[in-house]
Amino acid sequence: MKINKERLLEMLHDLKEFTDTPGNGVTRFSFGVQDATAREYILERAVEAGCSVDIDALQNIRIGLKTNSPDKDIVMAGSHIDTVRHGGWLDGIYGVCGALEVMLTLAEYADAALAGDKSVFSLDDLKANYEMVIFSEEEGSNFGSTMTGSKFVTGFYKEEDLGKLRDDKGKTLRQRLIELPVTDEEDEDSLDVYSMDYFDSGEILWDFNEIKTMLELHIEQGPVLDSEGLSIGIVDAIYGMRVIEVTLTGVGNHAGATPMGIRYDALCTAAECVLAAEEIVKSDEDERIVATIGKLSVFPDCSNVIPQEVKFTVEVRDKDEAKINEYMDSIIERIYNIASARRVGCVINEHSKSSPLYLTKSLRNDMEKLAKDKGLAYKVMDSGAVHDACMIANFVDTGMIFVPSIDGRSHVPEENTNEKDLITGVQFLLDVVLNEMKTEV
Ligand code: GLV
Ligand code: MN
Ligand code: MN
Repeated sequence: MKINKERLLEMLHDLKEFTDTPGNGVTRFSFGVQDATAREYILERAVEAGCSVDIDALQNIRIGLKTNSPDKDIVMAGSHIDTVRHGGWLDGIYGVCGALEVMLTLAEYADAALAGDKSVFSLDDLKANYEMVIFSEEEGSNFGSTMTGSKFVTGFYKEEDLGKLRDDKGKTLRQRLIELPVTDEEDEDSLDVYSMDYFDSGEILWDFNEIKTMLELHIEQGPVLDSEGLSIGIVDAIYGMRVIEVTLTGVGNHAGATPMGIRYDALCTAAECVLAAEEIVKSDEDERIVATIGKLSVFPDCSNVIPQEVKFTVEVRDKDEAKINEYMDSIIERIYNIASARRVGCVINEHSKSSPLYLTKSLRNDMEKLAKDKGLAYKVMDSGAVHDACMIANFVDTGMIFVPSIDGRSHVPEENTNEKDLITGVQFLLDVVLNEMKTEV
């Protein structure tokens, strides 16, 4: 069975236009106008192919391929459609378009079988049904916590977290969900792209007994496959992460009239902390652990006022949870010491975390065998980025497929992958899906 590569590329190119920052990367945060438009684009295609659509209160979307036997286990594929600010055109949405292309290919196949085409087998003879999923707020661009949608369906986040997660304007996730636009009832053609259901803890949790396999196709976002000239990565481990939020409070004052000797500058203190975090993780012999200070705000943010308050995040990632904690704890200690030496106030809050984990070994072996059979240039590798698959892997057999990122660039407008690799990845996803649908549970 072959995917329709023109359709795949067309969907990807169409969807990259749904951005708040045209000409400067893709900015499509969950629950914004561009998110709604992208949802509509995808749902229209799914509904046209006769698929069922289910949207939960967190706005995760599950789309089911039509089936005559709804009680069979589910083989699921998907990813996310939200992006970071000025991000790339493939992170997340490639896995969603891939899963959609697989669904459309299977739907066409089912139609041909129904119309009596003897050259195709009936999907009803397969041992599982197929579903695709779009998780909301994977990047954490609104609320600062990655994998938000998948954290709720797995129970990692609970109802009370709706009130704890806040966006930059101070609005809680609960408020943002309540304020989502309601579909225009007058317009008969309009689709419900958001659910208006009130959050119900019982309903949001997935029943993992009905899911056999979860697959996520994604760009690698690092340099390994591209530099080694390979077209497929089969993921073994996914790194964990821990994020803290630091608030430094100095004394704001006039930038011209205050001598250097009597300043309590929150930004100079932050600068020392940033370099200390870099130095601490760089001391690691494995050269694997990473620390990033990617978000920093200065108050009052005026060129002629000594910075009074600075807030910044520090995230540390590695494959070994003990190591993440050990290095983060020393960064925290250094930050307190630096602030205290400069007599600047310091408050540190834990913000979010996820544990490193290994994806399902048997599935990884099956995917490797399939890649070999298909003659693909592949390698088994780790993921430095987190993915919704991390949350789902705690419950069901989960696998991830990577395709190369040119020059290893991602989360930036330059993010790109060759067309040939994009097509190979989705064809491989279809092959793995079919393999899983044929396998007994
Ligand atoms: C998601 O893209 C992450 O790893 O931050
Ligand atoms: Mn992603
Ligand atoms: Mn990302």
